Amino acid sequence: MITNQHFGEIPPSYLFSEVAERVRTFSAANPGAEVLRLGIGDVTRPLAPAVIEALHRAVDEQAVASSFQGYGPEAGYAFLREAIAAGEYAAIGVDVAADEIFVGDGSKQDSANVQELFADTARVAVTDPVYPVYVDSNAMAGRLGTFDGERWTKLSYLPCDDMNGYRPALPATPVELIYLCSPNNPTGTVMSRSDLEGWVSYARETGAVILYDVAYRAFITGDDVPRSIYEIPGANEVAIELGSFSKTAGFTGLRCSWAVVPHALQRDGVSLNAMWLRRQSTKFNGTPYIVQRAAEAVYSPEGRAQVQADIDYYLANARLIRETLERAGVAAVGGEHSPYVWFRCPGGMDSWEFFDVLLERAQLVGTPGVGFGPTGAGHFRLSAFNTAEATHEAAQRLARLLPELV
Ligand code: MLT
Repeated sequence: MITNQHFGEIPPSYLFSEVAERVRTFSAANPGAEVLRLGIGDVTRPLAPAVIEALHRAVDEQAVASSFQGYGPEAGYAFLREAIAAGEYAAIGVDVAADEIFVGDGSKQDSANVQELFADTARVAVTDPVYPVYVDSNAMAGRLGTFDGERWTKLSYLPCDDMNGYRPALPATPVELIYLCSPNNPTGTVMSRSDLEGWVSYARETGAVILYDVAYRAFITGDDVPRSIYEIPGANEVAIELGSFSKTAGFTGLRCSWAVVPHALQRDGVSLNAMWLRRQSTKFNGTPYIVQRAAEAVYSPEGRAQVQADIDYYLANARLIRETLERAGVAAVGGEHSPYVWFRCPGGMDSWEFFDVLLERAQLVGTPGVGFGPTGAGHFRLSAFNTAEATHEAAQRLARLLPELV
């Protein structure tokens, strides 16, 4: 054998590719249908004017020898690392140094790549349902045992549903790596400060490392919900945090992210910050200069205001989706500190059955919950990233269809 046999074990297609394929087939068979997409979390608002201006300026710099940029620093330009330290961390009273921040080209990549820092034998826990990248990337690395059609034999699943109020229990068996995401993809629920304190003390006691995904933190409103794991004392010795400009500032196409790997995070006498720097400088030549300048502009006074207006726009869509479901008698979570709304499929349908009904009878696309893990079975996710007009139309179609299904 010369190929990685672990690929043979994973489901043949990535969740969002499977959804896109089914929608393509439907649209080809129904060319007149106006399909509305509330599936993948891809933004529809254009980039903020402050970001566009920064991009133009940076492009012009590339035309002049004195300001032209070739290879950049592998961990990111100091101007952006400092802007993130100030804008994401100092702004909420959290001390993260610029050299603990690594600029990347997307949280999908960062969350898939970070497992390379850990042993093949490291045991992994994920909340269930979960963003599939955490699971598939560990499966490709051969860490998860075999897939029995529903579960990986060596993966610890921490179920989250309405039975436990979407609060994952601590792992029942020892693990070395724990993936947490708040606001959560796919459920849209958030970790409270006391829950997060529980996770940090668990990791401090056991030596486990938490990989904390805050890609959706810009959707948090108010001061009660933690925006960073480093708000919890001692978290800098146990956690890596992954942030993104994709959903915050519409960078799904532009691509920019950051990872915080604190200096205080050491295992086996080794600094994980030094390991990540070594990994990135070997396998990554940095996010493009023009993109890093665009990301920096998110923290200008104009950039902040413009980006916040887009977040508010999507949050209004999310509220409408959740209220529409609830008015039809479908209990839902998320949509408050999150662009995602999560619910049990009406009428006890399974996830793909409801996907087909929504597509065929209302020409709406959502994401089947079972694609996010076994506890997602019978659940469904709708996203608030379409335009306000499309979301209003989708809400009307849902309001017409749901009473026939519940
Ligand atoms: C999602 O819909 O869950 C996300 O857009 C996927 C991603 O960010 O890769």
